[in-house]
Amino acid sequence: MYKSLLRKTLFQLSAEQAHNFSFGFLKFIFQLPFAKSLFYASFNVNHPSLEREVFGIKFKNPVGLAAGFDKNARLYNEFSFMGFGFVEIGTVTPKPQDGNAKPRLFRLHSDEGLINRMGFNNDGVKKVVGRLKGRYTSVIIGGNIGKNKVTPNENALDDYLVLLNELYDVVDYFTVNVSSPNTPGLRELQEKEPLTKLLKALKEEAAKKSFGKPILLKIAPDLTDSQLDDIVDIVMETQVDGIIATNTTIDRSGLLTPEKEVEKMGAGGLSGKPLSHRSTEVIRYIHEKSKGSIPIVGVGGIHSAKDALEKLDAGASLVQLYTGFVYEGPGLVKRINEKIIENARTS
Ligand SMILES: Cc1cc2nc3c(=O)[nH]c(=O)nc-3n(C[C@H](O)[C@H](O)[C@H](O)COP(=O)(O)O)c2cc1C
Repeated sequence: MYKSLLRKTLFQLSAEQAHNFSFGFLKFIFQLPFAKSLFYASFNVNHPSLEREVFGIKFKNPVGLAAGFDKNARLYNEFSFMGFGFVEIGTVTPKPQDGNAKPRLFRLHSDEGLINRMGFNNDGVKKVVGRLKGRYTSVIIGGNIGKNKVTPNENALDDYLVLLNELYDVVDYFTVNVSSPNTPGLRELQEKEPLTKLLKALKEEAAKKSFGKPILLKIAPDLTDSQLDDIVDIVMETQVDGIIATNTTIDRSGLLTPEKEVEKMGAGGLSGKPLSHRSTEVIRYIHEKSKGSIPIVGVGGIHSAKDALEKLDAGASLVQLYTGFVYEGPGLVKRINEKIIENARTS
């Protein structure tokens, strides 16, 4: 139904228009009295073999909505009725910002991919906190945090500290985003010295609170093996609670979409099927290097249950979707969860 009807209609619109339209449509649908139970009955799967305890949090299933989809925490309750075990809101910055000029989101149909250079468009932390106070479901919420574009890297820590403090009571875990390719200079914060400083300071700030909340680091798929070795060392040293692998890539190799079309789309992060192999490689590398001691959330190009299982087999404890959800719809979440149950039964 999603692919035959809804997707066809949505793909008539520009990618960003389709995203905004879907949000409005879902908000409206969920006001109807039967919507919650209908969505719940259609997409939720509950089974003990889906349950996970990772970095001290209990998840009802391991499939989450990746950051960037519900940047402003407008639909996280509704997404929990579509079968997700967790929803990561953000990236949120301290102050609201518009992001880059439009168009800034493009579909690569033949590759089942997206290129985006959104640039952390969001309503700012104050508004987002207000919306998160309206949580009426038990869905686990991750708060993905990033610095404002106007904040120089030397002052980035101040932004991350503001976000940690403001969001502390309304999210279940944090994701430190230093891997978006769309904020100039942000990825330099992934280097050894600034990253160690940033993560140490955030862990120290969190330690002052009366109850602990896990802090995860989201990394780019474009890091070299030696940079990944550094990441593993830093995560161990700073005792950050886990890694989200990966964000979008700046690599454009091996695409089916003609080079000229891709060039016309311009700069940005590529997501979806073309990213799948690399992100799984990164997961496997970190899992092996850390001897399985670092919890990993696997994300990048999950478009089928098989793709999700590959990431779990490579060492991920949880997975997240973005582009696969756009191309496949909410049925994908259910298919992944059902496949995990089936595998648990036969193993
Ligand atoms: C339009 C768009 C916006 C995104 N915005 C964010 C963001 O704000 N913060 C973030 O950490 N990741 C963001 N991402 C990256 C996704 O969370 C995910 O890591 C990446 O797209 C790979 O997963 P996928 O192939 O399933 O899409 C965004 C991705 C897309 C396509």
